[in-house]
Amino acid sequence: MTVKIAVLVSGRGSNLQAIIDSIEKGYIGNAAIHVVISNKADAYALKRARNHGINAVFLDPSGYDRAEYDRAIVSILKQNDTSLLLLAGYFRLLGSEIIEAYRNRILNIHPSLLPAFKGLHAQKQAFEYGVKVAGCTVHFVDEGLDSGPIILQSCVPVISGDTEETLTERILEQEHIIYPEAVRLFVEGKLKIEGRNVVSLS
Ligand code: GRF
Repeated sequence: MTVKIAVLVSGRGSNLQAIIDSIEKGYIGNAAIHVVISNKADAYALKRARNHGINAVFLDPSGYDRAEYDRAIVSILKQNDTSLLLLAGYFRLLGSEIIEAYRNRILNIHPSLLPAFKGLHAQKQAFEYGVKVAGCTVHFVDEGLDSGPIILQSCVPVISGDTEETLTERILEQEHIIYPEAVRLFVEGKLKIEGRNVVSLS
């Protein structure tokens, strides 16, 4: 059975693109993105989705309170028969409405080696802290901030002469590798959550 995927975005959408490409190349088995939803009208991610014939929706948050907005998202997800929800540069906290409806079926990519540097501007936080190794994390989403069980991580060195921008670019390359890989593992039913640990079945 095809795993029906929905993606929440707010901006550029390079991770969305990496996942679309992986599906089109057959790297992620039996899966299809049915809808992409943005809280920003001008998100380039919407254009990327439309370029691939994917239904792309701008859901205007103005006029909704947070719970109403999240209920509106859940309603679109249900209409699309969504079974896996991906956050890909979605810059809003998810409310309990969505998390409860899709518990253990929501994935996020975060540009740090969690649990270090949660929240916004993680690459800047890492760079300014002076770490020698940085990276990114794909994790399940729970009620906390970037706190759900970790699926995959990839690390990159911080090199002499790096700026926040060069480090961010090096991390992003890894994001585009591990996010499709985590989606593939989920789609193939290979992820098992045991407390905080995610076991990858072979
Ligand atoms: C990425 O760095 C991701 O880790 C973070 O937001 C950024 C989104 O980039 N959550 P893009 O929209 O996927 O290009």
